Amino acid sequence: ATAGFATTAQLLKDINSVTVIGAGLMGSGIVQVAAQANCKVTMVDTSDAALGNGEKLISTSLKRVARKKFADDEQQQKQFIDNVLANITLSKNAEQAVSDSDLVVEAIVENIDVKRTLFTSLDKAAPEHSIFCSNTSSLPISEIAAATSASRQEKFAGLHFFNPVPAMKLVEIVRTNAVTDDVFQSLQDFTTKVGKTPVSCKDTPGFIVNRLLVPYMFEAFRVLDRKEASIKDIDTAMKLGAGMPMGPFELADFVGLDTMKFIVDGWAKEGKIEAALVQPSPALDDLVSQGHLGRKSGKGFYDYN
Ligand code: CAA
Ligand code: NAD
Repeated sequence: ATAGFATTAQLLKDINSVTVIGAGLMGSGIVQVAAQANCKVTMVDTSDAALGNGEKLISTSLKRVARKKFADDEQQQKQFIDNVLANITLSKNAEQAVSDSDLVVEAIVENIDVKRTLFTSLDKAAPEHSIFCSNTSSLPISEIAAATSASRQEKFAGLHFFNPVPAMKLVEIVRTNAVTDDVFQSLQDFTTKVGKTPVSCKDTPGFIVNRLLVPYMFEAFRVLDRKEASIKDIDTAMKLGAGMPMGPFELADFVGLDTMKFIVDGWAKEGKIEAALVQPSPALDDLVSQGHLGRKSGKGFYDYN
């Protein structure tokens, strides 16, 4: 490179400005941890209501983090919260938001067509050096990335955070065959900068965690569907007998029942996972069809109202 000009590799190395598309459970958490790490972050969603929901999730969680960091000092707590919030901008215009982003993280609905449409438009609007990531739980990264140009596909990876993002320490970096070493390194550095531990994984269904966790959760739904035990007893059993922090039904309500259903229905359609593991659950399907999506809607397997 000519002296004075940053090479693409150098530009990629230091991720400072981040756009997160989707202000739901995951998007809001990713915005928060990036802003806590002093990145300038834009949070994008399609409506004021969705952005307001994201803001509320962030402010509740930030209060919790601040109380833990600065136990007895309300002034420092307030300063910390103000500093983090000052790093966050809201937008309903995704194309404008990505126009000066080093990193774009997508955390919208788990639907491949919607994600692909979004990324095609973002590819045209973002600078050449921007790294694109999807936080998808279950969809093939290379198929989402294929909606962008060949040069973007070298900078397109899975960056899979866990719920609740501010508390869970893991990020799976999903590497397709197209991703370059520089891009992979930048994502490892970014993951560490936001206080998480990276693991890497090939672009396979469910990556590591969900490939193991989701079949276990659906097996719990099948125990219920077969009327072998109650929701409460299955949850109690897995917490007290297997050391899980939440039982499978508590966890499903926490993740979102629509998301649980999207994951398994998508895998069943793709046919890449043994059919027995992706059998739909009537109990889950009933709740989703009634709009009971878990904690985020006030009712799921449990009632939160
Ligand atoms: N914001 C900030 N901090 C939070 C938080 C939030 N929203 N939620 C929890 N925390 C922090 C707490 O401050 C606390 O921190 P310290 O230990 O440092 O004090 C810690 O997390 C534990 O919280 P609590 O003591 O209040 O509560 P808990 O012990 O019941 O833990 C939990 C809460 C961390 C959520 C725990 O129940 C848990 O680990 N549950 C399982 C979560 C899980 O499996 N997530 C993965 C879901 S699958 C997924 O995400 C992938 C996918 O694609 C679907
Ligand atoms: P959510 O339902 O809480 O939020 C999704 C948000 O995306 C909503 O605010 C919605 O308005 C917005 N949105 C939808 N289409 C959009 C578009 N075209 N442009 C901008 N915003 C749009 O969902 P979530 O739980 O945050 O999940 C988001 C993604 O993260 C999914 O791919 C999901 O599989 C994945 N994920 C979820 C979890 C979890 O535990 N919930 C964990 C890891 C990964």
